[in-house]
Amino acid sequence: MTKQVLLTGGAGYIGSHIYVALIAAGYDVTIYDNFDNASKDVPDRLEQITGQKPDVIEADILDRTSLRACFSSRKFDAVIHLAARKSVAESVARPLDYFETNIAGIIILLQEMERAGLKDIVFSSSATVYGHPEQKSLPETAEVSHTNPYGFTKLTSEQILSQAQAADAGLNVGILRYFNPAGAHPSGLIGDDPNSLPNNLLPYLAEVALGNAPHLNVFGTDYDTPDGTGLRDYIHVDDLARGHVLSRATLLDKQCSHLVNLGTGRAVSVMEMLKAYSAACGRNLRHKNQPRRAGDVTIYCADPSLAKRILGFETTKDVMDMCNSSWNWVQKNKSRNEMKGD
Ligand code: WQD
Repeated sequence: MTKQVLLTGGAGYIGSHIYVALIAAGYDVTIYDNFDNASKDVPDRLEQITGQKPDVIEADILDRTSLRACFSSRKFDAVIHLAARKSVAESVARPLDYFETNIAGIIILLQEMERAGLKDIVFSSSATVYGHPEQKSLPETAEVSHTNPYGFTKLTSEQILSQAQAADAGLNVGILRYFNPAGAHPSGLIGDDPNSLPNNLLPYLAEVALGNAPHLNVFGTDYDTPDGTGLRDYIHVDDLARGHVLSRATLLDKQCSHLVNLGTGRAVSVMEMLKAYSAACGRNLRHKNQPRRAGDVTIYCADPSLAKRILGFETTKDVMDMCNSSWNWVQKNKSRNEMKGD
């Protein structure tokens, strides 16, 4: 076995961090990305971090011809699949685009993997599959349901993988349910780089800290939580990336398929994150209390024990690491864009 990985969506926020972690672990990685949701200069910045020019195929996951050519031209022994649409709000507005990219995408990928004799896949899933949970700590056995088209595509993809494995026992599958990714690589060269005003909390706090938004809108202050605001399990993107390396290694060394949460097990409120980001950027960020956001739940928090048991995975970074690294990234990214005249 060599250690050749095809990383679909590898130029995106989470994918680029997984790329760095895989290179550091000694893997050869090919990035397969259509760059719809990634800057074209990410590969150059990845080269600055890793010291080697990334192997990049600019193509769409739905482009069977490109995918087949990719598998014919290189000898992979695993795929880590992130290429997908990922906005809950957008999925409500454009469900068919989400079904096409996220569900047809994984079907085409699995068909081409089968054709190429490839057996190992790590799949990027989401805690969104837990729907509207009441449990304060979510084990993988918690009830799943879909409350939006995005969550539907993730849950359906998990079920497709399970059915594919039932038909081909040789398929080794690692399913990783992400909680709330946050933060950035310490170099400040890669990070969450949304191409419009973001919906997610951390990138929106970054916009407030940069002065691009006047204040944070706090969606709901009447939740049944200590300070009334929503609780989430934020996980540093570098911890998340390391979870993928451990998942790939578990498939490679133990052929042990798995479905695990990737989270810290610690719930943090909106107001706690606002306070932490204020400390990171060195000034008190303003906020305005707003009504609850449609579709939001009181708490999403992982029971992280299975990932520890199966993968030996534990998070190492805390909320301040997330906010400090995010602030470092957005400041450097802003100066880079100003120098480019963006
Ligand atoms: C976090 C908390 C908001 C913005 C989403 C997706 C999920 C995953 C991660 C892909 C909530 C509050 C937010 C703001 C706020 N993505 N908030 N003001 O909704 O937990 O999860 O991103 O896999 O699938 O659903 O993340 O960052 O949007 O919200 O008060 O301007 O911050 O109400 O309590 P969420 P989020």
